[in-house]
Amino acid sequence: MTADSPPHAPLRSYGRIKARPIKPRQAALLETLAPSIAIPEGPLDPRTLKTGAAEVWLEIGFGGGEHMAGQAARRPEVLILGVEPFLNGVASALRHIDEQGLGNVRVRQGDAREVLAELEPASLDRVFILFPDPWPKARHHKRRLIQPETIAALARALRSGGTLRFATDWKDYAAWTLERMQGSPDFRWLAERADDWRKPPADHLTTRYEMKALGDCAPIFLEFERV
Ligand SMILES: C[S@@+](CC[C@H](N)C(=O)[O-])C[C@H]1O[C@@H](n2cnc3c(N)ncnc32)[C@H](O)[C@@H]1O
Repeated sequence: MTADSPPHAPLRSYGRIKARPIKPRQAALLETLAPSIAIPEGPLDPRTLKTGAAEVWLEIGFGGGEHMAGQAARRPEVLILGVEPFLNGVASALRHIDEQGLGNVRVRQGDAREVLAELEPASLDRVFILFPDPWPKARHHKRRLIQPETIAALARALRSGGTLRFATDWKDYAAWTLERMQGSPDFRWLAERADDWRKPPADHLTTRYEMKALGDCAPIFLEFERV
């Protein structure tokens, strides 16, 4: 047992939480902007964070925040919650939020599984899990974010008819996810033809990790509906 794995806590699904020093401008935003757009801790009805929001979306592991900010800019009527443990990623996202003057994003530095547990049931309309850490070695598969417990937590937080978009460029992680999601009675895979998972969905915005193309296949997009 290590300091970051208290009893009953899920295994760590992410790598480092801080890398290079944070640039002064981003450090200032961590002091000033971050507290004002933080996802509060504890039980949460996300609609109270922005009254009148048409929908509430959650992006798990937003990395540098480019996709989250891009979607928020396109859809100002939607409230987007973003959760990311990597401090440099959070700092980068704050820069995008600040530069684009986005008023519809709330951010937590931490583990999205904690936020999922805090959310009121059926309070999300949409979830993005884009290029999660692949943990390609068999002995690390247990660290993958997609596990039956996470799928159950997603099912609890998503409303019926809400959707989950999962993307990966690791063949084995796509198969792993499909198998587990299809094993859940709570989700339905929305693919109708092969192009539905081979081609980026119409409203997809390319992510920074996706551009690195570090996986072993072209990006695969899996879209599920909460039944
Ligand atoms: C490979 S990166 C991809 C980042 C971004 N989605 C992209 O496509 O550029 C995966 C991200 O997921 C984050 N992550 C891993 N486990 C997480 C968790 N339990 N909750 C939230 N984020 C997590 C990691 O810190 C990392 O930034």
